Amino acid sequence: MKRITVNAASQSYDVIVGHGILKDAGSYISEVLKSRRTVIVSDDNVYPLHGEALRKNLEAAGFDVNEFVFPHGEQSKSHETLLNLYAFLAASNITRSDSIIALGGGVTGDMAGFAAATYLRGIDYVQVPTSLLAQVDSSVGGKTAVDIPAGKNLVGAFKQPKLVLSDIDTLATLPADFFDDGMGESVKYGMIWSEKLFELIASGNIKEHLEELVTECIDIKRQVVETDETDKGLRMILNFGHTLGHSIEKTQNFCGLSHGKAVAVGMYLLTKAAEKHGIITENISDRLKACLEVNGLPWSVDIPAETLFANSVNDKKRFSDDINVIICKTIGKAEIVKMPINEYKKLVTE
Ligand SMILES: NC(=O)c1ccc[n+]([C@@H]2O[C@H](COP(=O)([O-])OP(=O)(O)OC[C@H]3O[C@@H](n4cnc5c(N)ncnc54)[C@H](O)[C@@H]3O)[C@@H](O)[C@H]2O)c1
Repeated sequence: MKRITVNAASQSYDVIVGHGILKDAGSYISEVLKSRRTVIVSDDNVYPLHGEALRKNLEAAGFDVNEFVFPHGEQSKSHETLLNLYAFLAASNITRSDSIIALGGGVTGDMAGFAAATYLRGIDYVQVPTSLLAQVDSSVGGKTAVDIPAGKNLVGAFKQPKLVLSDIDTLATLPADFFDDGMGESVKYGMIWSEKLFELIASGNIKEHLEELVTECIDIKRQVVETDETDKGLRMILNFGHTLGHSIEKTQNFCGLSHGKAVAVGMYLLTKAAEKHGIITENISDRLKACLEVNGLPWSVDIPAETLFANSVNDKKRFSDDINVIICKTIGKAEIVKMPINEYKKLVTE
């Protein structure tokens, strides 16, 4: 078991990572919450698998527990689910001193976290991430949000959790496709910050090192978030591979490559292009490709470069605007490179 303390400017909290730690959830959570009334928020895949055990454990620790279970999937990260959750919190007599426990993947964590940020102007919440993506990334850092028709994550708030409990054993029930999504983000952490982590992932037997993987990724996110909690500078490096990744998802109408796989392709295409244009002088794209391949992740997509470029810039951007491009000139270090849009266009298309 590992304990990482995140000293964010707004709040400090621990992230506990290990095998079987949900068996002690009640005692860990009682240490950080004063009130013993809480609502578990979870989706209809995760609650039947892990919810009852968590609930019983909390009740044994003296908690009065209600649960709000919603249909799984990104489409539930909506105002509709959020309004149902607010109504449920009110019906459960949740007061300002009570709390929410988010049990699930990034959708649950983001949506429950946003409810915690806004209900009664803010109540405490605990993250219990059960997808790899949520364990290596979204459960830490305090970005909470729901989607609106105009776009993903457009309505949100920064709200740090009181505690994050990452039980590696919950990943045993995670479908392989979603595991791969988490691996896409994990490769990103290696690329932007740690060659050692990259090599661990590139070794090809990551399933034997999941506790180390989650701990290393979270320790990197901790350092980034402690420096830049509200995404005004360094935190932008977490977007490595995401500009082209989003473009791939958008071009395929969000029905093609899933997010983590699109990010994998985005990281490779950008790195390869930056090598071709002399921005990167080392050959790192071959190492990145090999690392993606050994983890079953894609590195190419059948979309014309012009389309990839067009869909990767905000429609409102004019060609005179600059864009921040995250580039890793070596494995383990990212840079924010500000370039005019037309230069970025050349990079992606020529
Ligand atoms: N807040 C942040 O910093 C941040 C960062 C990255 C991504 N995100 C958000 O995270 C979301 C994606 O996260 P996700 O991939 O975890 O999505 P998700 O929450 O939809 O989970 C993926 C799927 O796996 C299922 N699942 C989760 N854990 C399981 C388990 N242990 N066993 C069986 N099934 C399980 C879920 O029911 C769902 O069907 C997106 O909405 C994205 O915007 C947020």
